[in-house]
Amino acid sequence: MQAMKSLLVCSFLFSFLSISTTTTPDTITPSRSMRDGETLVSAGGSFQLGFFSPGTSKGRYLGIWYSVHTETVVWVANRERPLGDSSGVLKVTEQGVLVLLNSTNRIVWSSNSSTTAGNPVSQLMDSGNLVLKDGNETNPDKFLWQSFDYPCDTFLPEMKLGWDLVTGLDRYVSSWRSTEDPSSGQFSLRMDRRGFPQIFVMKGAKIMSRAGSWNGLHFTAYPYSQQTQASPTSEYEFVLNKDEVYYEYRLLNTSTFSRYMLNPSGTAARFTWVYRTHSWEQSSTFQADQCQNYALCGAYTSCRVNVSPICACLKGFVPKSPKDWNSGYWSDGCVRKIPLACSSGDGFLNYTGVKLPDTSSSWYDKSMSLKESMSPKWLV
Ligand SMILES: *[C@@H]1O[C@H](CO)[C@@H](O)[C@H](O)[C@H]1NC(C)=O
Ligand SMILES: *[C@@H]1O[C@H](CO)[C@@H](O)[C@H](O)[C@H]1NC(C)=O
Ligand SMILES: *[C@@H]1O[C@H](CO)[C@@H](O)[C@H](O)[C@H]1NC(C)=O
Ligand SMILES: *[C@@H]1O[C@H](CO)[C@@H](O)[C@H](O)[C@H]1NC(C)=O
Ligand SMILES: *[C@@H]1O[C@H](CO)[C@@H](O)[C@H](O)[C@H]1NC(C)=O
Repeated sequence: MQAMKSLLVCSFLFSFLSISTTTTPDTITPSRSMRDGETLVSAGGSFQLGFFSPGTSKGRYLGIWYSVHTETVVWVANRERPLGDSSGVLKVTEQGVLVLLNSTNRIVWSSNSSTTAGNPVSQLMDSGNLVLKDGNETNPDKFLWQSFDYPCDTFLPEMKLGWDLVTGLDRYVSSWRSTEDPSSGQFSLRMDRRGFPQIFVMKGAKIMSRAGSWNGLHFTAYPYSQQTQASPTSEYEFVLNKDEVYYEYRLLNTSTFSRYMLNPSGTAARFTWVYRTHSWEQSSTFQADQCQNYALCGAYTSCRVNVSPICACLKGFVPKSPKDWNSGYWSDGCVRKIPLACSSGDGFLNYTGVKLPDTSSSWYDKSMSLKESMSPKWLV
């Protein structure tokens, strides 16, 4: 009986809570704007949109953060142009443009959507995507604008990291300048389209590390353990066709939170929310070890973290600059001991468990399956 009573109390509490969240709006319209101090809450309660100042910064920014941890900002609208005071207002114009105005009614930031709408509505979705659409439109292809197309330092589930080849839109993640300054920093996490597409962490135009190429299941540099195969928490997708090239992941349990973030010093890592400790735990990183540093060992080499030195020439190759190689500078790589002679019996060697080499100057055959490409026939 006692148990029954507390069950009843619980369900009463829950219905009360769900009523209170659904009454917080998740939309703004031309007749309802949002001022500094107000927030939008997504329908499922996962994300909030509002104004904030990072750390000790005085600037005011319009951003999206998690409800479970409001300090974790996943997107910033006016990252390059902070407001000087708390008089910011977010509006949807009659034409269907999202604008951020300052105290003198000047546009500080806008969604540069070009199509007009009869009944423009901006809605914060439960995925953390702020969208601009016409009326009750639910087809994402018809949205007029969406924040997921303009990522900041966070790559969220359901976001596309990569290219819309029709419009030329490149969706890439860029770090904050510092933990208190959301403006674009030096680092980016992006899909490189040259050859067979790959994901790079870059510092300006310089490649810092490479997540490897998609092998049909995962990126080759990315740990893919038996355990994650046995009890997956996410599903991953790599799309490559004439219209799009992108990578996307989705969480299988919508009550869980997980995100990739590129921090101001260029480290890209995945974090998962742990309810018990009320904190983010790092679950993986692109740059887990020294071998992830791009071209650390140079050409015709292999890199192994658990041996010393970590760089070694492939079989049949010797260091190009032995003096530098022996003093721990490996980037010049290795060269053939004797010239290649295919006609006199030189062939292929079998290396397993290695990341594919940089595929930016490769060609590829999309019609081949993973099984076929791994079969020995391919090597002949
Ligand atoms: C509002 O924005 C305009 C245009 O950027 C700027 O010139 C003006 O100083 C701003 N006003 C205030 C009060 O910040
Ligand atoms: C939106 O702004 C971006 C960056 O400022 C620009 O590259 C793009 O062409 C703009 N799109 C439209 C529809 O104006
Ligand atoms: C949107 O949906 C609501 C509720 O389903 C309905 O009352 C409203 O008329 C719809 N608006 C438009 C523009 O279709
Ligand atoms: C989803 O995650 C929540 C929070 O961790 C957990 O309570 C729930 O049991 C999970 N649901 C499933 C179907 O695994
Ligand atoms: C390469 O080595 C792996 C593991 O030793 C083996 O399973 C595979 O058959 C080998 N492939 C070829 C083409 O020799």
